[in-house]
Amino acid sequence: MSAPERITIDVGAHQGVDVAPELWGLFIEDLNDALDGGLNAERVRNGDFEFSAADRDGWDALTAWHPDVAGQVEFRTDDPIHPNNAHYLRLTGPVAVVNDGWDGIAVTGGQAFRLSFFARAAGEPVRLVVAVDDLASTGVTVRPGGWHRYEATLVAVADGQGRLRVEIPESGTVDLDHVSLRPAGPDGEPLTFRPDLLEALKDLAPSFIRFPGGCLAHGLGLDNVYHWKTTIGPRHERVQLPNLWGYHQSRQIGYVEYFELCQATGATPIPVVAAGVCCQNTPGGPQAIGDDGMNAYIQDVLDLIEFANGSPDTPWGARRAELGHPEPFDLRYLGLGNEDEITDDFRDRYARIEDAVREHHPEICVIGTSGPQFFGRDYEAGWAFARARGTAMVDEHGYRNPRWFHQNVDRYLAYEPGPQVYVGEYAARSNTIRSALAEAAYMIGLERSPGVVRLASYAPLLARVGHAQWTPDLIYFTATEVLPSASYHVQAMFAGERGSRLHPVTLGGVEPEPVTLPKTGSVRLTSRGADVDYADIVLDGVVRQGVRTGPGGEPVELGDIDPAAATLELTATRRAGDEGFVVELGGESYLQVHVGSWQNRSTVVLRGDDGITNDDHGPLHWHGVPTGVPVRVKVRLAGARVRVWVDGELRHDYEQDLRPEHRVLAGATSRTAADGSTEYVIRAVNAHPTARVASIRLAEPLEPAVATVTTLAGAGPDEGRPFAASPVTPVVTTAAADTLDLPPWSFVTAVIRRIP
Ligand code: AHR
Repeated sequence: MSAPERITIDVGAHQGVDVAPELWGLFIEDLNDALDGGLNAERVRNGDFEFSAADRDGWDALTAWHPDVAGQVEFRTDDPIHPNNAHYLRLTGPVAVVNDGWDGIAVTGGQAFRLSFFARAAGEPVRLVVAVDDLASTGVTVRPGGWHRYEATLVAVADGQGRLRVEIPESGTVDLDHVSLRPAGPDGEPLTFRPDLLEALKDLAPSFIRFPGGCLAHGLGLDNVYHWKTTIGPRHERVQLPNLWGYHQSRQIGYVEYFELCQATGATPIPVVAAGVCCQNTPGGPQAIGDDGMNAYIQDVLDLIEFANGSPDTPWGARRAELGHPEPFDLRYLGLGNEDEITDDFRDRYARIEDAVREHHPEICVIGTSGPQFFGRDYEAGWAFARARGTAMVDEHGYRNPRWFHQNVDRYLAYEPGPQVYVGEYAARSNTIRSALAEAAYMIGLERSPGVVRLASYAPLLARVGHAQWTPDLIYFTATEVLPSASYHVQAMFAGERGSRLHPVTLGGVEPEPVTLPKTGSVRLTSRGADVDYADIVLDGVVRQGVRTGPGGEPVELGDIDPAAATLELTATRRAGDEGFVVELGGESYLQVHVGSWQNRSTVVLRGDDGITNDDHGPLHWHGVPTGVPVRVKVRLAGARVRVWVDGELRHDYEQDLRPEHRVLAGATSRTAADGSTEYVIRAVNAHPTARVASIRLAEPLEPAVATVTTLAGAGPDEGRPFAASPVTPVVTTAAADTLDLPPWSFVTAVIRRIP
């Protein structure tokens, strides 16, 4: 290993600018089984028998349940426990059914669980035996008459992972619904949140929690919009919905549990309500709530504010008190919309809702939306709309590759005065150290832009191994384990040590790294979801033989190119399949031209660096690759300029982003400790194979001083992967206050204190 390079971190005097006090928070959406199957402590999956094919093809009321002892098992909907919980099971004994839970039901020896269900017997009382394999069991006698709720405690006799078994050992008929098994808390009451995941969230010391989405907030179609009022009250009465991520929403973590989660973690709530339109990804496009429904919808939004903050003398404050919370939840923010397409309908509905909130609750900070990317059509339109309306804050989202984050550490220094920013969703793609360090560099940039950026949250937060729809994620988990990613440790290091005053930092001895075009490369064709023939291929003026690509995704090489001066033309004809095809140009870094990306609905140019891709230009809506109809494509690379023609239309024409990367970066804040002394919080990223030793010079030195240093280091840039814990965890040491070791590929936080 080469000798460490020496750099300097000069920390200037405080210039009167304070750090955004609530900068680091969380965004929770029921994606990747984050809630049902995750944070929700419930162990019975589909305990309400409400799963259906609307959730996922092939699912029905018995999903996750299996008959065990052959007997009569019947579904019924007559006289249910509640109209919102229409399906129940009629069991006629002897019979048994088992529930798989989520990959089994994990128990530890001595652990108590609270079992509950609704049941009614026909005729005589019927004895049920309920057990988790041979790990825990209890008996309950179900009475005849109407529905009753039954409760019992099961205590596990050993560690293990089993299935919940409900048995009628002898004869008798029982109707069964809303079956629940939750770990008991210290008071013997069923837990709401899975404790280890709750601890992982608490360790992030979130200032706020955004909920319920994301896409989930505005739903796929108007009947899939998340209406908060349908998620409070007894769990078995809540409206359950298909989850647009391809599963089911039980709403067991509804709005009250969300506010309770905020209280449990010390976070302020940021609920997100639909801006009167459903998700822009709804097949056929976003739909708006009709004029006849808008007043009621606006009233729902105002009622949410009253539910959170109103005194118990108000109707919705009284409802909150009735649900066990006489004290308000201190709501100060309200998200309105999520990544919406900025259409006329959106503008109209958004304006009506925001106007009503301004009129009735001027104390609430409304957060607008600016599309799914840090740039592009909806970003521009969303920002123009927010500026014109004087919206207080705008939510920006972006999932990019690590290079982009290193290039954009100063993004917000250039923002004009106007609405402030909530970076509501961001992540560097991949779960590697490289990505975590890119996020750390970006977060230093966010911290030093408090005039603009007030709030930020990584996304997505939680993902159950084997049940994920989206990667990368911050925290993976199984039935028994919590697997924090390297990005999680970065978030915890930022949130765990916060200064309140911002200090300017001058970095000496290191320069931003230039980004260059690839020097050599080749052209490769692939078509993962289609059979495609390519003919009339001309590469840099040389005619090539026709080729075919198939759905296996194996690339076909066309030949070498100079990535700074190349021209490719070809005619592609899809023979079978649903998707389009991809033209890849370059070497280690490369461009990918996707013709028919995103369910064959767009064209886009991606750039890949270190094996991780980024949208470079687009996606742009397109009619898609038809079967049997030739599509002529021309790609021209000239220096940084990229042009792509499809059937003669110039669809992409842009310059590649060659701004340098800030791979070595530092930031500084200070705070006043309990004893009145000043403490400095220095953060530094070294996303580089070379170790560095930084001399720290404080404009107002503390002498004698010592530093508590937390270092995340020791793994190569490409180590770390989804569904596994980070290969490294932060290490805390005590060190001299004037020197900071920055190992290769590291993120370091040093808290410098005067020695008393
Ligand atoms: O975080 C996952 C999804 O990404 C969110 O639901 C949506 O807002 C974004 O597109």
